[in-house]
Amino acid sequence: MAEQISIDRALSKEEQYIQLIPQIKALISGEPDLIANMANVCAALKYNMNFFWVGFYRVEHGELILSVFQGPPACTRFSIQKGVCGACVRRKETIIVPDVHTFEGHIACSSESNSEIVLPVLQNGTVTWVLDIDSEHFDHFNQTDAQYLQQIVELLFGLVR
Ligand code: SME
Repeated sequence: MAEQISIDRALSKEEQYIQLIPQIKALISGEPDLIANMANVCAALKYNMNFFWVGFYRVEHGELILSVFQGPPACTRFSIQKGVCGACVRRKETIIVPDVHTFEGHIACSSESNSEIVLPVLQNGTVTWVLDIDSEHFDHFNQTDAQYLQQIVELLFGLVR
């Protein structure tokens, strides 16, 4: 009789997101408070995906204001004319930066961050929040992150686009 072979290997990034999304659904279902749900989403993303920094900025009067996050302290307020987050607000699209040091106008909240992804939360055509994630690794984010993080943003904000 053939012995069962156990293959011990690290999960791919896609497999990690596929495992994480039901956990996030369970965490936020039944809780109507946006801030509470944002807090759990930040924690779930940071500790399951091992990101350096995960957080939300709120867009108000042409500025980005720090909101719920997990990770080291970060810049509290800056203009939407600045940074990767500002570019995301102005372009209304997800921005992936493989090397933050080469991005014109990047705002360095920590010298340990080397790559970044920022997703817009679009409500009635206006960007109301951004989800910003930093990694200490270069070139850490790709379309897999963009696709699954978009699903998470839509779950959290109840958006159908
Ligand atoms: N790097 C961002 C600023 C926010 S921190 O990464 C937490 C930017 O350039 O917009």
